[in-house]
Amino acid sequence: MTVWVDGSVSHCGRSIPLGDLRTTDFESFWNSNELQRVRGLFRRDALLQAHCMPTCNVLMAMRSDEFVPNQIETATTEAIPDTEIRFEPTDRRPSFMLLQLSDFCSLGCPMCCYGEGEDLKAKLAKSQVLPTEVFDHLLPVWPKLRTLELLGGELFDLPWQNHPLRRLFADLENHGHPDLNVKVVTNGKNLDERWCRYLLEHSFVDCVSFSIDSAHPDVYPTIRRRGNLERTLENLGRLASLRTASSRPRVHVTALLGNHTAPTLLHLAETCERIGADRLDIQPMNPMGDPQFHFDNNIFQPRFVPELVALWRDLTTLDFDSNRADILAMIESFLRFLGRADEIVAENATVPQFAQYRGDRTLGPIARRTEVAQSFVAKRDTLRRIRLQFATYARTNTKPIDLSVETDAREPVLQLQVDPRDLVDNAWHDVQVPVTTLRPGRDYRIRLASRRSNGNDCVTLRGTDSLTTQVRVGRRKQAASLAMMVF
Ligand SMILES: C[S@@+](CC[C@H](N)C(=O)[O-])C[C@H]1O[C@@H](n2cnc3c(N)ncnc32)[C@H](O)[C@@H]1O
Ligand code: SF4
Repeated sequence: MTVWVDGSVSHCGRSIPLGDLRTTDFESFWNSNELQRVRGLFRRDALLQAHCMPTCNVLMAMRSDEFVPNQIETATTEAIPDTEIRFEPTDRRPSFMLLQLSDFCSLGCPMCCYGEGEDLKAKLAKSQVLPTEVFDHLLPVWPKLRTLELLGGELFDLPWQNHPLRRLFADLENHGHPDLNVKVVTNGKNLDERWCRYLLEHSFVDCVSFSIDSAHPDVYPTIRRRGNLERTLENLGRLASLRTASSRPRVHVTALLGNHTAPTLLHLAETCERIGADRLDIQPMNPMGDPQFHFDNNIFQPRFVPELVALWRDLTTLDFDSNRADILAMIESFLRFLGRADEIVAENATVPQFAQYRGDRTLGPIARRTEVAQSFVAKRDTLRRIRLQFATYARTNTKPIDLSVETDAREPVLQLQVDPRDLVDNAWHDVQVPVTTLRPGRDYRIRLASRRSNGNDCVTLRGTDSLTTQVRVGRRKQAASLAMMVF
């Protein structure tokens, strides 16, 4: 559920409002005819008919074959008559919610609808905060809610006196679920020591996300106009360092993705690591704010294929915790949509010919008779490098790992050893191989074994068993499980 500052409410932050919590109580909205229709459409997986945006970041990441960046027009759908939809009230309650407490912001980011206007006094006078009656109507939501994300405007631009966050946190303290997690999104400029300590005092604050976009001193001011990079980084560093051993709240950084930020993303990740942030989230840019800025910087356009290829290359090297796998899925699906993916992979040795980027679980251990194998289809005529992610358990492992490549008919192509003492825990590791001839279109298998490894002297590989990691190779889909790139 998403509640906007004027009290309008919807089932999703990227969808149209379907009710008004100033005039309606929560129950009347939640079981309204329109919400019952939405739930019925979701049950049938008719997401677009249920008002989902085809360019929603979540859909583009999770179902990248179906939802391609920047392709609204391909998403036409047939209407589903009400007679084919199951309408039924529910006594369940929202578990996830986005809430906009204020729409004032003193910055002037060109990609954002809250960035317009130079006269800050006039802007403040026109701005709204969430009305009291909406706070009242939200009281029945808190006991069941598990995740609450706060949007802006910029919360910390408002004066402390009568600040809507203080009313909200009082309600959450009195009515919130004991396991509630709150995420606060901010540009960070005015998150001073007082606010920092206030957030730290509330254990339900699970994450504070700083929208920085680029930490490059020449680029930052062209996006976060009237922002202050130095002060923002200082505020982030203070929050990160004042945390107790529980490491709460997590400190995230977000970067809007575009031509303006793509070349500085690796620099931003290095900055995050240096100042104590935990994760970098990269967000594709929606068409908001200044249309010319969007047109100039939206990287998902056919004329920006070289920029996308450079970004693809950069993201394959990114080790800092991030949603890089989602963005890589979007890049590949966009290039496939343009019909350019195969040609780019064939010509460009800096991007992988096969890749599965997710490493959310471990696979293995590689020890005694247990081998780990992953097949791939060659898209180039040579093999030069294999990038894998190992979990070493931060200990020194000593027994060598045998890596072999064979054809689908089990003919050996290559054999070498990986020294486990060189591996870094949970990070990409490049295995350089002698240049080896492959036949494009043919299936190969990479095998890892370590007969002499055992118990406490062995490594595992990272990978995933999530359904979202099906990678498409040419017209074929492969269930790829290892976190692996083949160059
Ligand atoms: C509107 S801001 C409000 C909170 C705060 N002022 C900030 O900048 O984080 C919320 C998030 O929306 C992002 N945002 C701004 N313009 C966007 C766009 N055109 N497409 C996608 N996200 C955008 C911001 O970078 C920020 O992470
Ligand atoms: S700081 Fe946040 S709300 Fe303000 S203009 Fe920038 S993105 Fe929009």
